[in-house]
Amino acid sequence: MVMNKPIARGVPSRLIPAGALAVFVAALVVASWPVAAEEIESRIARGGMLYDRWYKITSGDMPRGTHPVYKDTKGRMKRANTWRCRECHGPDYLGKDGFYAKGKHKTGIKGIRDFEGQDPAKVVAILADDNHRYTDGMFTATDKEDLALFVTKGQVDMAAVIDAGNKTVKGGDLGKGKGYYNTLCGGCHGLDGQKITDMPAMGKVANRDPWTTLHKIRNGQPGEAMPALRALDPQISVDILAYSMTLPKE
Ligand code: HEC
Ligand code: HEC
Repeated sequence: MVMNKPIARGVPSRLIPAGALAVFVAALVVASWPVAAEEIESRIARGGMLYDRWYKITSGDMPRGTHPVYKDTKGRMKRANTWRCRECHGPDYLGKDGFYAKGKHKTGIKGIRDFEGQDPAKVVAILADDNHRYTDGMFTATDKEDLALFVTKGQVDMAAVIDAGNKTVKGGDLGKGKGYYNTLCGGCHGLDGQKITDMPAMGKVANRDPWTTLHKIRNGQPGEAMPALRALDPQISVDILAYSMTLPKE
């Protein structure tokens, strides 16, 4: 990552008070394997980052070539990108029925929404099927479990939060969003969203693809020290998204 000004590294763990998490994790039960209650949120967040770009944070084999199933779609992406879950199933988890319904990301593949609330063991099995072909060299058992936790317990109902027609946020509080953004994001991204120079301006990113922006706010940026806000009230992330869309676009 390239920044205009140096920033302290390793800040995120101090951003989220550990005690505040207990309330959220207590309500979650995992059916198939034992996951310590206080680790659920962080494992779902890691699963969210794996969904985004798994090979940034796994230590096994990298994808080689374009995914054979992707080759049969109308999508125009190539190589490693075509092995990202989000490339086939969408940044909004809606696949062919969402943001990736048309354009260079079009695959015609359904989303993963139907798997919210399902048994995570089913997702683990799916990862090895002919549609997927992820090998044990690519994913450890933990990687698969984290992905499955995200798919079954970590999705956001994007349609309830983002109006896909005009790409606006439903029910975001800009005033609160500014306070959250300035304190949680501004240190790295700058109050204007332009401090990290190897990504487009925050205002541009958030308006171009609010779904990805919300996913990253909730789960973090693969391979970077950016915090995941998943353990906090979801409305906080929505308010931040709404405010981010008001920032300068270049
Ligand atoms: C190259 C494209 C591609 C990639 C990459 C991909 N999938 Fe899939 N996925 C598919 C196809 C095709 C299906 C079958 C869809 C159908 O039944 O119509 C599917 C189905 C699924 C389903 C079942 C959906 C349902 O409702 O039946 C889940 C869950 C799923 N994938 C999870 C994942 C996860 C997690 C990843 C990343 C680790 C991933 N997929 C990556 C192509 C892909
Ligand atoms: C510890 C530093 C840090 C904090 C805090 C942080 N981020 Fe990030 N963020 C990064 C880095 C580094 C990247 C990767 C930039 C790149 O693509 O090179 C990134 C990437 C992103 C991206 C993806 C941009 C793209 O196009 O790839 C979004 C969106 C984002 N951050 C939003 C936020 C928001 C909103 C907050 C506050 C909730 C936040 N970040 C907090 C460091 C941080």
